[in-house]
Amino acid sequence: MSDVMRRPYAERLQEIQPFKVMKLLARANQLQAEGHQVVHMEVGEPDFPTPQPIVEAGIAALQGGKTKYTPAQGTPALREAISRHYEIEYGVQVDPGRIFITAGGSGALLLASALLLNPGEGLLMSDPGYPCNRHFLKAFCGEGQLVPVTAADDYQLTAQLVSDHWLPSSRGVLLASPANPTGAIIDPLALAAIAKLVQQRRGHLLVDEIYHGLTYDDSRPSTVLATDPEAFVLNSFSKYFGMTGWRLGWLIVPDSAVNDIEKLAQNLFICPSSIAQEAALAAFSAPAREIMEQQREAFLARRNFLVPALRELGFGVPVMPQGAFYVYATLPPGFTDSESFCDTLLERYHLAVTPGTDFGFHLANQHVRFSYAQRLDVLAEGVDRLRRALPELARQ
Ligand SMILES: Cc1ncc(COP(=O)(O)O)c(C=O)c1O
Repeated sequence: MSDVMRRPYAERLQEIQPFKVMKLLARANQLQAEGHQVVHMEVGEPDFPTPQPIVEAGIAALQGGKTKYTPAQGTPALREAISRHYEIEYGVQVDPGRIFITAGGSGALLLASALLLNPGEGLLMSDPGYPCNRHFLKAFCGEGQLVPVTAADDYQLTAQLVSDHWLPSSRGVLLASPANPTGAIIDPLALAAIAKLVQQRRGHLLVDEIYHGLTYDDSRPSTVLATDPEAFVLNSFSKYFGMTGWRLGWLIVPDSAVNDIEKLAQNLFICPSSIAQEAALAAFSAPAREIMEQQREAFLARRNFLVPALRELGFGVPVMPQGAFYVYATLPPGFTDSESFCDTLLERYHLAVTPGTDFGFHLANQHVRFSYAQRLDVLAEGVDRLRRALPELARQ
């Protein structure tokens, strides 16, 4: 270690917390490497491999020399394929010129954060919510302006909540539907009312639709673009399309933002991965869609197993999650500290579950998030470990 005293790093780092689930995953993997059989119910990643047609298209891209820079905005072929997807899936026309291919939904969030906020300004977002969002804003000296949401509002923002929490520094609203960690889908009328209010306040509406496709029962939400053609849409090939490690997503922006986002994308990334873009062209093919639909059915069966099992153990799941692959549950009566609950579960029972404190502050210590992106027999083992752990955890 050198003894030179260097300047401290940027102050904004003080307010950017680690993404706890990644830390938890690292510890779970360490336990696994030591020979323990860890049950993973922490990760937000489909357990299925990337569908074979996509993998084959990726291999063909590599062998065909598709390994060079592409346009910063993404290849015209993929942007056109995404535009067609909106037409077929939602009956909505999206000019491919408004679509930007990004490094996952995370790249899309980064571009949108860089575009929208001056220092000290912020976006309203739900608490609980996807934790990286507010840290993206922080990286640009902005704020995630957290709004507590409850099961009574289906864990989503409402126009009333937006109106009550809007600050002079608010520049818009960022919501996710289906949401992480709750799996909640926003009611179309509530979304329309929020869109109208945000427009009246001359703000911007951003909707994270990265769990679209992974919805159950009769829920098939439309894109926000059907309600508000000027909204920003964040999406990803990570979840429904099973391409987490390929790092590919997209951002749809209003015409007025195209030039600025292009400028940012050129400077920050040069372009998204050429190989992943070629592979993703196959994601919209009929054979790939068939595989993804089978996976969706499997997720549905897993949700239908896990929610009643958790309720039976005393966890509270007030609303049946309608999308994604998470259950956000209150701890059984008597438990008040989700972090120590999850620590003990992992260390003594080798069951990895994410504490509510990863997703915000509102009643966070009374909640945990279970991911059901796991086979049914693995989930059954997880439930079994929970059943054995609860009496010991209650005595702590
Ligand atoms: C709501 C939400 N948005 C965005 C992301 C970012 O995912 P990716 O960058 O892999 O697309 C995630 C990942 O879990 C998420 O849950």
